[in-house]
Amino acid sequence: MLLGLPPARAPRPAYAKMNIESVGMLVLGIESSCDETAAAVVADGAEIRSSVVASQVLTHEKYGGVVPELASREHLRKIEPVVEEACRQAHLTIRTVDALAVTEGPGLIGSLLVGLVYGKALALSLGKPLVGVNHLEGHIHAVLLENKMDRAAGKPVREAALPALTLVASGGHTSLFLAAASPHAANPFTYSQLGHSRDDAAGEAFDKVAKLLALGYPGGPVIDRLARHGNPHGVDFGRIKMKGNPLDFSFSGLKTAVLYRVRGTELAREAEERRAWRKTVERPSLEDLRARCSAATLDLIASFQSAVVEDLVARTLAAADVCRVDTIFVSGGVACNSLLRQRLVEAAKHQGFEAFFPSPALSTDNAAMIAAAGYYKLQAGERAGITLTAHASFPLGTR
Ligand code: KG4
Ligand code: ZN
Repeated sequence: MLLGLPPARAPRPAYAKMNIESVGMLVLGIESSCDETAAAVVADGAEIRSSVVASQVLTHEKYGGVVPELASREHLRKIEPVVEEACRQAHLTIRTVDALAVTEGPGLIGSLLVGLVYGKALALSLGKPLVGVNHLEGHIHAVLLENKMDRAAGKPVREAALPALTLVASGGHTSLFLAAASPHAANPFTYSQLGHSRDDAAGEAFDKVAKLLALGYPGGPVIDRLARHGNPHGVDFGRIKMKGNPLDFSFSGLKTAVLYRVRGTELAREAEERRAWRKTVERPSLEDLRARCSAATLDLIASFQSAVVEDLVARTLAAADVCRVDTIFVSGGVACNSLLRQRLVEAAKHQGFEAFFPSPALSTDNAAMIAAAGYYKLQAGERAGITLTAHASFPLGTR
């Protein structure tokens, strides 16, 4: 049964008239797939009216990674205030949003269920249309959304046009997709997966290496900043070799190589000293942390980051070549990495591609990207029913 709503592909005429022609369709997005509770209001899939993200970093940092049970409990506490705040910042009430879009998967099942069940209950009680969105599709739409906003604001940026080869690199995923516009109104975008991580995702490797070296959580931002003080050629990790599909990724071997460089050496003793020191300071500054890293540790960090980045750049460009597209999108938390941005833009330009990254706030998990992706599904007439549920594993597109 649908949520008391018109059947799929048959929006009410009055709804279409009021929302699409005059004020635009206001979609409330809800995202809770991992450790951020997020809600956002986006108009017509193109204008962010509000985007609220409640981070759980303080809860998980002492464990050096996300603890699923704690994440679910924190989502339960935050979901209501975060949704209310998103509506308040957008100057509307929950009754005046036109539709809801919630993350359906992939992600931590307990975390996903909190946002999904909350969104479903809201849609049901208010009689609003609802759609489920794949988190990875959301990350791809973050690029399109920001590009539309930049162009509407008159910024001198080229159009991020499809088809595009897309790298989604985050704490849970490292995947390459060919994203294309579809001629079928019922399915406006298509995605073909070209490769994915066979073990640790890129962000997960950053987080695990940071944990090993007692640098803090999440690992990506701190490694990014410390690596600027080390020599990226200090340790030669070699290139990551893949058997089978050359567009797949594997970072666990590199992570283990870092472990072997550290175990039983002066670097391990230094990391234990840092670990003990970190327990005595609440939020150490980067300068204090850097002062507790030897040149050898900084070289190791810079070399590890460089190995991850060069691998991401090489496989992304190879995939763009295979697909014969001109455009590359990069999204997900790892898209915040300054070396990745620099190297990918340089290499793409050199080979005749144009690369687009969202701003850091739209690269990491947020609900604006879910609302934007959901808007197109709603426009195409898609409606989720009461049976909508969360999926920890939820592939996007064809393989
Ligand atoms: O997309 P996201 O917010 O959540 C997931 O869907 O996983 O990505 C979080 C991941 C974390 O692993 C974090 O360490 C990584 O993105 N990350 C970075 C940077 N900023 C965040 N990795 C490398 N460099 C960064 N600057
Ligand atoms: Zn994500």
